[in-house]
Amino acid sequence: MNGYATPTKSSAVTIPALQKYKQQGEKFSVLTAYDASFASVLDLAGVDIILVGDSLGMVIQGHSTTIPVTMGDMVYHTACVSRVCQHSLVMGDMPFMSYVNPDMAVENARRLIQEGGAKMVKLEGGEQQIGIVRAIAEQGVPVCAHLGLRPQSVYKMGGFKVQGRDVESAKQMLKDALALQAAGADLLLLECVPATLGKQITEKISIPVIGIGAGVDTDAQVLVLQDVLGITYGKVPRFSKNFMQGESSIQSAIQHYVQAVKSKEFPTAAHSFE
Ligand code: KIV
Repeated sequence: MNGYATPTKSSAVTIPALQKYKQQGEKFSVLTAYDASFASVLDLAGVDIILVGDSLGMVIQGHSTTIPVTMGDMVYHTACVSRVCQHSLVMGDMPFMSYVNPDMAVENARRLIQEGGAKMVKLEGGEQQIGIVRAIAEQGVPVCAHLGLRPQSVYKMGGFKVQGRDVESAKQMLKDALALQAAGADLLLLECVPATLGKQITEKISIPVIGIGAGVDTDAQVLVLQDVLGITYGKVPRFSKNFMQGESSIQSAIQHYVQAVKSKEFPTAAHSFE
């Protein structure tokens, strides 16, 4: 016995359900997965959103950045995950240079939804992506915008660094968040920003905010599955946690993660940045 309730087959997670979580102050859980076997474990454990992230370029393909990931890779892995999910909402990542103009963005969002079976797409960028977000949202496709550390801009940012630490960039990030919401984004993901900025943006916008290294106050948390399972190669990020410790199976570790996010046991200040 692991002490966590085995979730009965519940209804599929929807965008309105996630909005309701925010309104009610209930946290929700997000994890990455890239294949059917792990996706079915996460689905059964009650993970709310499975992100088929372009992080697969690093954790599956062994690259040092997400830049080499192609649309073909994303459609393939998103389809592997979508086929087995009955509960979790599947979010597919738009890879590097797959949304440089509205027409290209809409076509590639179509591929993730129609060929990959995703229910939502994610893309990186601030105010400059408003036209792209609007174009996809106008087609009825839910969009998650990704701010803070944007791995597809790693060369411009000069590395995988915490963003929004100075007053000007923090102000700009809040402005970006409001603009993306107005353009039709349904969710916002904040990666590696100071905890105070994570809190401020979460309070100022009405769409749910998913955090990773963004403090304890965002509406949801996301981690990379390999970090949660303690099989990360190389440096383990400060914001991650190995949930396999003290657990006897992958299923119970994932259930622990879901429960820890919902009960606000994870993350703590130790997983946050100043
Ligand atoms: O690609 C990804 O998995 C992500 C998460 C790290 C947030 O964007």
